Parts: sequence; structure tokens; C-alpha cells
Amino acid sequence: MSILVTGGAGYIGSHTVVELQNAGYDVVIVDNLVNASEKVLGRIEAITGTRPKFYQVDINDQEGLEKVFSENDFESCIHFAGLKAVGESVQKPLEYYMNNISGTLTLLDVMRHHNVKNIVFSSSATVYGNPAFIPITEECPKGQCTNPYGWTKSMLEQILSDLQKADPSWNVILLRYFNPIGAHKSGTMGENPNGIPNNLMPYITQVAVGKLKELGVFGNDYDTPDGTGVRDYIHVVDLALGHVKAIEKIKEDPGLKIYNLGTGKGYSVLDIVKNFEAATGVKIPYTIKPRRAGDIATCYADATLAKKELGWEAQYDLKDMCEDSWRWQKNNPQGY
Ligand code: NAD
Ligand code: UFG
Repeated sequence: MSILVTGGAGYIGSHTVVELQNAGYDVVIVDNLVNASEKVLGRIEAITGTRPKFYQVDINDQEGLEKVFSENDFESCIHFAGLKAVGESVQKPLEYYMNNISGTLTLLDVMRHHNVKNIVFSSSATVYGNPAFIPITEECPKGQCTNPYGWTKSMLEQILSDLQKADPSWNVILLRYFNPIGAHKSGTMGENPNGIPNNLMPYITQVAVGKLKELGVFGNDYDTPDGTGVRDYIHVVDLALGHVKAIEKIKEDPGLKIYNLGTGKGYSVLDIVKNFEAATGVKIPYTIKPRRAGDIATCYADATLAKKELGWEAQYDLKDMCEDSWRWQKNNPQGY
């Protein structure tokens, strides 16, 4: 039996494949490479000693998926595949809904056909909208998303919940990630954004490596200790290890489960800049810019449920996250 990892060539997926293989799982990746490079397979092999089986298939391609399922025997699926650029989703809502929602519906239909009914889904803290309380527990009501990308996560959570309710032989774990940063310790795998990065840490590392001139800090008039936005940054390897725990949990405890994957600590944009400079010795010039539309002031998790029920807790601190992000960027200035 093996684990199907959709989007397994991407940033979080590739790190999860490494940790699954380290834990002894056989892994099969399905990815259309729309936002990834096949080179990651060699990097995974160099770290773990095993090249994961790979299919370049789109999750909207029902026939392609049927072939994958008929050639393999899956116990569970971890479903990362999706488009994730917030700004682009505002420009291209139809593409986002088709790719993320239709793609997931097709995947679920094929899974049902092959009686593979365990799914771990990549959700996001974005489903809380402007959170009703902080730190955010899983009890916090879902909120209004500010972009189509966020709505795809919120809607897919609903779809998966409805499916599990209608047919309790499905087991579903929704993992709500906070802000993943960092990279594999080896410096051979990391985040590889297309074009100018939207997210804070890849922007900072590209300033550090000289690809971008300076960081724009989006607003310093929020109701936070230094006025800049506060987020719960989590090391991508910790996130990956959370998926291994979820795969263990889904087999022993059926039903629908929802977990926040965060550290429980909030850091401001300026905290990240200072910690990055301290960890790497590289200065990050920045200027204060207007607020970015759709941003909220503060977002960090209460991650006690994941600790209690999954036996998972984030291990890496902000220094590790900064050092590891930098090692990846420095060694791979052009990405893969
Ligand atoms: P990523 O873009 O690096 O990985 C997604 C992968 O899915 C890519 O390799 C891409 O090629 C693939 N893909 C996209 N559409 C596909 C399709 N139709 N068929 C097959 N493959 C397809 O992004 P990531 O940061 O690793 O994110 C993984 C998942 O986690 C995504 O679902 C994302 O929305 C979610 N998530 C990410 C963050 C974050 O900040 N990185 C936060 C919360 C949730
Ligand atoms: N920021 C800047 N300058 C930049 C980029 C970001 O000041 O160039 C600030 C933002 O305003 C925010 C913080 O840095 O205060 C973090 O921004 P990111 O874009 O890195 O992350 P977000 O919290 O906005 O969003 C991320 C993912 C979403 C996900 C969300 C919640 O991009 O997909 O976390 O998990 F939904």
C-alpha cells in the first residue's frame, strides 16, 4: 500500500514526501508541474535514497487519474495540488475555481471509484477570515475570505465535510496551515515562487540574494506591538511532519477531523526582518508601504488540539526558519 501525494512536487508536498519516505511510507506523486520542477524528484532521492514514483497528471484529467489508481494500491491521499497565488486568484477566479474545486471533485470521484476513502486536505488559516478571536482555535467560526483562492479552501472544506457526513466510510482530515516558511536543512529543497514573490519570506531572501532591491512593508499602522502585521510562521519540515502524524491518525480514528498547524507564536513583519538579519548576517533594506488589500492585523494559532490528538508539535524556531530559508536561496539563487 502507498500514499498518493497530489501536488507532491511543490513546496510543502516535496518536504512531506521526504518525511513520509523517512517514516517508511511508499509514496506516489501526481503533479502537473504547473508550479513545480521535476528536478525536485532527484533532490528527494538524494535526501532519502528513494526516488518517489511520479506521474505528470493534472487532477482535472479523470482518465489520467484512473490510470494512476489502477496501477497503484493506495491507502490514503494527501491532497496538496492546487493554485495558491492570492492576487492571481482575484484576476482569474474561474481558473482558480476550476483548477482547485473541479480538480478536487474529479480526484474525489476517482478515489471513490477505487474505494480509497482517506484524504488529508491542505487547508489554510485563511478560512478564518478576520478571526473572531486570537489565538485561533479550531472552534473559531469560519469567516469571510477576501479572495477566490481563500474561498476555494473554504468551499473544499465544506465539500469534504458533506461527503464524509453522507458516507461515513470516508475519513477526512482538514489541516489548516498558518504561514509555512523555511526549507530542508540540506539546502537542496525549498520554495521556488514564479516571478516576484507575494509572500514575505521569499521576498526577503530574494532581497538578501540581490535579486530584489528592498522589501516593502505593507502597513505599520495596524493594532499590533510595532504596527506591522503579525503571523504564525511555521517551518515547512514541521508542517511536513504534521502530515505524517495525520496519515497515522486517519487509519486509527475515523471520521472528520480539523487541525490547525501552527506554532502558536505570532511575529510581526519587522520581527521577521530583524531575526533574518541576526540569523544570516545579511541586511534587509525596507520601506514602509500602504497596507495590502485583504490583509488582517493578526493571525496566530492555538495549536493545542494537534498536540493532544496528533501528538504533533512544531519543533523548529524562527532562527531555524530564517537560516534554512537563506541556505536554500543562497545555494539556489535561480530556484531549481
Ligand atoms: P505549490 O504551488 O508549491 O504546490 C502545489 C503543487 O500542486 C504544485 O507542484 C503544482 O504544480 C501542483 N498543481 C497545481 N494544480 C494542479 C493540478 N490541476 N493538477 C496537478 N497538480 C497541480 O504550493 P505549496 O505552498 O506547496 O502549497 C501546497 C498546498 O497547501 C496548496 O493546496 C496550498 O493552497 C496549500 N496552502 C499553502 C500555504 C502556503 O502559504 N504555502 C498556506 C496554506 C495552504
Ligand atoms: N508582507 C509585507 N511585504 C511583502 C509580503 C508580505 O509586508 O512583500 C506582510 C503582509 O502584509 C503580512 C505578512 O507580511 O502582514 C505575511 O504575508 P504573506 O503574504 O507572507 O502571508 P499571508 O499571511 O498574507 O498569507 C499566507 C498565504 C496564504 C494563506 C495565509 C494563511 O499566502 O495562502 O498565509 O495561512 F492563506
